[in-house]
Amino acid sequence: MALQATMNAFDVAVVGEVYIDHVFTGLASWPRPGEEVLSRGYVREPGGGSVNTACGLARLGRSVRLFGLVGAVDMPWFTARLGDFGVSTQGLRAHPAGTGVTASASMDDDRGFFTYKGANAELGQLLTDEDVIADLCATRHVHFALPLERGIAQSLLPRLERAGCTTSLDVGFSPEWLGNPLNRDTCLEVDYFLPNQKECGLLLGSDQDEAFTRFVRKEGFGHGALKLGPAGALGVDREHAWRVKPPRVVVRDTTGAGDAFDAGFIDALLDGRDLNTCLERACICGALCATEAGALAGLPDIQQLGSFHEQTYGG
Ligand SMILES: Nc1ncnc2c1ncn2[C@@H]1O[C@H](COP(=O)(O)OP(=O)(O)OP(=O)(O)O)[C@@H](O)[C@H]1O
Ligand SMILES: [Mg+2]
Repeated sequence: MALQATMNAFDVAVVGEVYIDHVFTGLASWPRPGEEVLSRGYVREPGGGSVNTACGLARLGRSVRLFGLVGAVDMPWFTARLGDFGVSTQGLRAHPAGTGVTASASMDDDRGFFTYKGANAELGQLLTDEDVIADLCATRHVHFALPLERGIAQSLLPRLERAGCTTSLDVGFSPEWLGNPLNRDTCLEVDYFLPNQKECGLLLGSDQDEAFTRFVRKEGFGHGALKLGPAGALGVDREHAWRVKPPRVVVRDTTGAGDAFDAGFIDALLDGRDLNTCLERACICGALCATEAGALAGLPDIQQLGSFHEQTYGG
């Protein structure tokens, strides 16, 4: 049994919201009510933080299983497209509410979005399913890319810990979740909570390095990571708080940079590296993601990551 479990184990399970992104580009103007505007370009891609982080980890050679809910009709498309990246979709379940959809429209200087959450609104169901929990327990690391409900966190996180899984959480821009004091405990119960500065401000009332440092030292395990956009990231342990700069790159589009950051961070964690190295790999993945349009095209493979690491941080 133990051997079987080991053979089946994936490196990472990524759980979260899954979308079909419809991206319209090259619009001359915004439509007024009742008008139609033609777009010069269009792509349809899998989207959502969970998809982006899963693809980032797969690009780095990790075995990754994505858990989420989509409409049955879209399942073959997700399996094919995510299969191109090497992400397993065995953890996706069909749901009658249909796949979540985002339509984004880009002009040269601005973008606008329409989003329908679809089956993503029912994700709580998935995380109380015993078969799903057993699959999560059989992976080395579980990454949650969603505002994890407090009740689910209380029942699930101790089980994952007992199974020997490490955990991370990126709730994204979720003002209601971050403003609810009950969820502070969830941020501290996962091994790594991975917010950006804006999310830190909503959680703690301050987005300053000192506020985050105090939070993880006084209330948490004493270690933490905060994303700082172009400035890179802040690392905190019991003795030090330090900043890690990203490599210099030509930035084209920062969509998904935070999700790519999570992938680099988890990749180093799985190699048993220290927090500083986790932040360096994370910053490289975030910065390279930002060099291409969209969240997936710029994700580095293991060779690119290695050479950027050598150039930027010297090894
Ligand atoms: N303009 C930039 N130049 C270089 N690196 C960047 C830039 N923007 C982001 N990054 C890299 O990507 C990482 C994550 O970006 P950021 O802090 O913006 O995350 P986020 O706000 O969670 O992003 P997302 O919008 O994807 O949720 C940063 O820590 C940094 O390493
Ligand atoms: Mg983010």
